[in-house]
Amino acid sequence: MVSPVVVAIFLLWGTLFQPPKAAAFKPLLQGGSVTHREITHMAILRKTAEVCRDIATALGRDFTLAINNRLTVSAVQQACATSPDSSSAISSLGFYSAITEIYLSNGAIDVAFFLSAAHHIDNEAFGEGRDLITSGLAAVKASVRQGSYISGRITLGAVCHTLQDFYSHSNWVELGNTAPFSPLIRRELPLNNLADRSTPTCKSCTGKDCSDNILPEILLHKKLTSGYFSLVSSTKPVGKCSHGGLLDRTSYRDPTGGINKDDISSSHGFLHQRAAEMAINATMELLQDIRLATGNQAFLRLMGLSQTSVLAFVIDTTGSMSDDIEEAKRVSFSIIDSRRGTPKEPSEYILVPFNDPDFGPLTRTADADIFKARINSLTASGGGDFPEMCLSGLLLALAGAPPSSDIFVFTDASAKDRELKSTVQAMIERTKSTVTFMLTDPFSFRRRRDVSQSQQFNSRSIPQSDIQLYRDLAQISGGQTIEVPRATLSQATAVITDASTSALVTVLQVVRSPAIAENVSFVLDPSLSNVTVYVTGDSPVFTLYSPTGEPTHLGHCVLMV
Ligand SMILES: *[C@@H]1O[C@H](CO)[C@@H](O)[C@H](O)[C@H]1NC(C)=O
Ligand SMILES: *[C@@H]1O[C@H](CO)[C@@H](O)[C@H](O)[C@H]1NC(C)=O
Ligand SMILES: *[C@@H]1O[C@H](CO)[C@@H](O)[C@H](O)[C@H]1NC(C)=O
Repeated sequence: MVSPVVVAIFLLWGTLFQPPKAAAFKPLLQGGSVTHREITHMAILRKTAEVCRDIATALGRDFTLAINNRLTVSAVQQACATSPDSSSAISSLGFYSAITEIYLSNGAIDVAFFLSAAHHIDNEAFGEGRDLITSGLAAVKASVRQGSYISGRITLGAVCHTLQDFYSHSNWVELGNTAPFSPLIRRELPLNNLADRSTPTCKSCTGKDCSDNILPEILLHKKLTSGYFSLVSSTKPVGKCSHGGLLDRTSYRDPTGGINKDDISSSHGFLHQRAAEMAINATMELLQDIRLATGNQAFLRLMGLSQTSVLAFVIDTTGSMSDDIEEAKRVSFSIIDSRRGTPKEPSEYILVPFNDPDFGPLTRTADADIFKARINSLTASGGGDFPEMCLSGLLLALAGAPPSSDIFVFTDASAKDRELKSTVQAMIERTKSTVTFMLTDPFSFRRRRDVSQSQQFNSRSIPQSDIQLYRDLAQISGGQTIEVPRATLSQATAVITDASTSALVTVLQVVRSPAIAENVSFVLDPSLSNVTVYVTGDSPVFTLYSPTGEPTHLGHCVLMV
């Protein structure tokens, strides 16, 4: 499971701290020079465009987008959206946020591991740096295989940082190389021709001019070295190159100056553009390696594209829920079956049961039959007192589902774990998933008739303040809170079928608590078809007027479809 806390911390690092200068390519924006952000951004756009071009070619479709450094997020997203297995209704938002997650985690490396030579390939730490990259790469692939795209992106950003720093901090570019140094991402290749610890690599710069400070024999024999760096001590092995710059104490000692290409004003700033371009090419090589291991569709999901209509159910399995579980089974089965083999088939299904005090486990599968079997095995039991671990179950679903998923929560009780509200809220904002609560029972006529003798025992009406908690969360997410007597649950579940269609737009949503008599108007433009109005609440009375002012529907029910 992805820890939401970790994600939040990375974001803070990325936005609040000014990472110290002079340790790497500049992490975020920097006038005139190419930053880690731009390197990462460009490599992702170009590699993603290549993937979409190859998919289009395989399908015999045209792909006209030119793949160069002038690509934009929306151009790539649009070019990718024409593929038939991704919905054209996807906005570029998912792609944009995936790239943002990756480069913020990239930038965070400068803060979290500012003094770690291996993370920046300083101090000739090639072996240690390579270990970080290859083990990170394996972790990214494993995350993608498990569908944990958010944690995959965080690790990918960190790996990119170290990989990109190699091209700024080593003498790879000075040696005249024009291709990336592949052994950094492939553990099976030897790290050949490293300058050993006792081999001098640099001479002092001529004043501020460091353009010729690498020793001729190092260049001649193509020995690989990188600059030494320290904030506190000027000690470095005899004759070794330094990183260079004001903060680097080692660069004040003989041989003075440095070799980094972090920006255009660095010691080797004249090679900055080439180093940055090479870093883009190397990042693309890394992305290609991930793509080959995971396949095109999973790669596009890692990049926040190829969305997927994931359908997630969070179901209360305490004793009083037995009828509702049957209903949830019926609804999910009918959705699954009606979409099989059609373009609307959800790419994945998620199920999280919750009880008291347990919740989970999360089942996530692309296989509809496995999912049906799992739902079928749910039974209602236990849960003596009312409140259940609803928000814990929801949080598990939010963390395990890809962004922009549709999550449906079935319960008939208050949340015992309401202290999780702000965490759930943060996770909803982060994942942009939609959460709809199906609250059965609160006004259940049937139950009151059925169990009149034992009513105190069985009535589990949820207090208004607790319903408000569900309403708040649903509203933040763009979902709904639907309170229905059990008898009309099957009608209410039409919401699920509708909400899980891809091109759904919400025209207007108003929430009134307490309810007041008022007129609400909304505009329907010609691009809309099949408009559905949901009116939910405690027995609302409504009239629907046509544009000409004629009453077209009169109603007196909890839900109109
Ligand atoms: C990066 O790759 C492109 C395409 O393969 C190549 O034309 C370009 O020269 C490479 N850039 C560097 C700096 O090696
Ligand atoms: C709503 O509009 C109708 C028709 O214009 C009007 O008769 C009614 O008084 C209005 N109701 C409220 C609460 O404003
Ligand atoms: C609108 O609803 C009708 C009838 O339910 C259906 O046949 C049609 O496919 C729907 N159109 C769209 C665009 O969903």
